[in-house]
Amino acid sequence: MDCYQWFSPIFLSAFIYALLCFKSNKRKTSPPFEPNSDHGFPIIGHIPQFIINRHRFLDWTTELLAASPTNTITIHRPIQGVITANPTNIEYILKINCHNYPKGSFITSTLWDFLGGGIFNSDDEQWKAQRKAASFEFNTKSLRAFVVDHVKHEISARLIPLFKNYASTGEILDLQDVFERFSMDSVCRLVFGEDTACLEGDSDVLYYSSSFADAFKEAEDLSAGRFHYALPSLWKLKKLFDIGSEHRLRCLIERVHAYAMDIVRLKKKKIEDSSAHEFDLLSRFIASGQYSDAYLRDVIVNFILAGRETTSSAMTWFFWLLSQRPDVKQKVLDEISLFKGDLGFQELRGMNYLHAAITEAMRLYPPVPVNSMMCRKDDMLPDGTFVGNQWLMSYNAYAMARMETIWGKDCTEYKPERWLADGVYRSESPFKFSAFHAGPRICLGKEMAYIQIKSVVACILGSFELEVVEKNRRPEMGLSLTLRMKHGLAVRVGLRQD
Ligand code: HEM
Repeated sequence: MDCYQWFSPIFLSAFIYALLCFKSNKRKTSPPFEPNSDHGFPIIGHIPQFIINRHRFLDWTTELLAASPTNTITIHRPIQGVITANPTNIEYILKINCHNYPKGSFITSTLWDFLGGGIFNSDDEQWKAQRKAASFEFNTKSLRAFVVDHVKHEISARLIPLFKNYASTGEILDLQDVFERFSMDSVCRLVFGEDTACLEGDSDVLYYSSSFADAFKEAEDLSAGRFHYALPSLWKLKKLFDIGSEHRLRCLIERVHAYAMDIVRLKKKKIEDSSAHEFDLLSRFIASGQYSDAYLRDVIVNFILAGRETTSSAMTWFFWLLSQRPDVKQKVLDEISLFKGDLGFQELRGMNYLHAAITEAMRLYPPVPVNSMMCRKDDMLPDGTFVGNQWLMSYNAYAMARMETIWGKDCTEYKPERWLADGVYRSESPFKFSAFHAGPRICLGKEMAYIQIKSVVACILGSFELEVVEKNRRPEMGLSLTLRMKHGLAVRVGLRQD
């Protein structure tokens, strides 16, 4: 299926599922926008439009949202829902009345087998406790220093040698694949402090780690696939009889969970046997002494899900955009050249133009393009759109970047300068730039993501010339958890001469 999927497979798929069932809009109260005045075909509704547009799913929904006077549309049957690209509505659902918009049982039960009750897949008290513990750990300076150090190590020990190797052989490199493996290594190091060596190829460090990475990816996709069933009870039936994709998913989840459990046991033993401090997240959770092994396993799975594909997606789109814009690339290079030597946190923070260029890339290509919640109680959005009990409530970050009402006439242009005032980066409201979500559930790893991306960009651009092969072909987005390029990003690597 060639449409875009969104982040947590769930939301992605739940959203696509809702659109498959897209039907004419009967207003319950005043003024939700009706994206089509016709009511579609009997029974199948607008499925034909969906099929015609599925290869350009996000652009299609962007057009519908742009045509709506309030940048909000309503969908009906069998899953009903509202999609918005309106910052006032987004502030309302993610902050002002967020208690009415939890993930909800439809989403959490579908993802339960894979994610359990982890931070991504929980609401209310269960979520609150995890958020509190994780926020505390994420805000420590020692964790930040740990991230800076291990990213530096991953770059110098793996990324640079790999690029040098490709530069010497002239072979084509798939940048997206490299970044995915880099992000997996980075996030695993952060979460449980071990080297998964995905970027290394056939390393014997944690010998089963790359099969863990493969199993993780496939389990993520198959869990998302559950949202694509026209009848949700169908996957449940397959699960009951342990057949087809549900059989495969069960085996993959067993592998992922077994690996995560091994990590938990090893880590506990390591902490017992040594007085040395461990700085990873898992060790910090273990040290608090409050959590069961199953809970710690879910911490591992949920945090890997959070940091793996999001970061690699952001890096891939950034390099793709730079390949189209030599002027931006030159400005990034000028800035990098001011920071020679060891790049620590302060140096990275001082790179205002690079920060703006990365943010602008994520504005246009948000790694999580669409995000959904469930409405708990009948409600009315600030623009007057009705949202019913148990409706799917989604916001479309990809479409938001393309709304003139939000970003002005040049909204579709890649323009890092829109984030700078007198050369200094200035942030925007998270309800307007929602790539990292907003409100109480805003992304916890934002700072870490910037550390990783800036370090990688500074290193690669500073030492290598990348030529994107098939430059004029706009990458398609594939069905994965985030906004990926369907066929990867092929580059030829050369050494920088200056
Ligand atoms: C460019 C990179 C990233 C982007 C664009 C991003 C984006 C997001 C988004 C949109 C959400 C909300 C998801 C939802 O609730 O449905 C989220 C949540 C979260 N992110 Fe990130 N993320 C990135 C990197 C990371 C990294 C590296 C980590 C650290 C491992 C991380 C940790 C989390 C956590 C723990 C949550 C859950 C927050 C909660 O529900 O309270 N993220 N992120």
